[in-house]
Amino acid sequence: MHESEVRALVESKLATIPDFPEPGVVFRDLTPVFADGPAFHALAEALTTPFAGRFDVLAGVEARGFLLAGAASALCGAGVLPVRKAGKLPRAVIREEYALEYGTAALEVHEGELPPGSRVLIVDDVLATGGTVDAAARLVERAGWRVAGISVAIELEALDGRARLGDRYEIRSLLQF
Ligand code: PRP
Ligand code: ADE
Repeated sequence: MHESEVRALVESKLATIPDFPEPGVVFRDLTPVFADGPAFHALAEALTTPFAGRFDVLAGVEARGFLLAGAASALCGAGVLPVRKAGKLPRAVIREEYALEYGTAALEVHEGELPPGSRVLIVDDVLATGGTVDAAARLVERAGWRVAGISVAIELEALDGRARLGDRYEIRSLLQF
């Protein structure tokens, strides 16, 4: 499916909820896309196609990023690095704190989960302030791996995540608002 068709299909299923989870936030909800087989398949495929041959593993950020990284990995044959919220991983971890559009959190990965120098494509549903993928990218680099790129379904341009991440990484988004 051509990227413009994927974009139209995903946008047709996407839900937009004003003032969730707090006043002033316009929430972009992909659950109707996840619930639709052809739309979910097309989205998962579109996230990795532009980076084909340039990554070894997909990093999925808990929780919504897990769905996308898991589906995309089954389609392209790459493994998944789960980037988890703090306190969930059982072995030695590397941790990064970050601020969200709403609230703060910390992300962790297991030390030594991947071979040194592994090329990691970071996948998530939404790029808002960029705090989440910035933290995920810092984790990947501190662990001794390389960020192959950042691929998200939705980019909220007003929140300037792309500017925060600068030109360190190739960033691709399917839909922009
Ligand atoms: C959401 C979303 C992204 C992040 C984007 O996750 O899934 O990961 O916010 O925001 P940012 O660019 O400002 O960092 P959230 O932490 O709400 O968690 P969830 O996936 O568990 O719902
Ligand atoms: N994560 C951060 N900001 C968001 C938003 N506006 N909609 C959906 N997910 C988000």
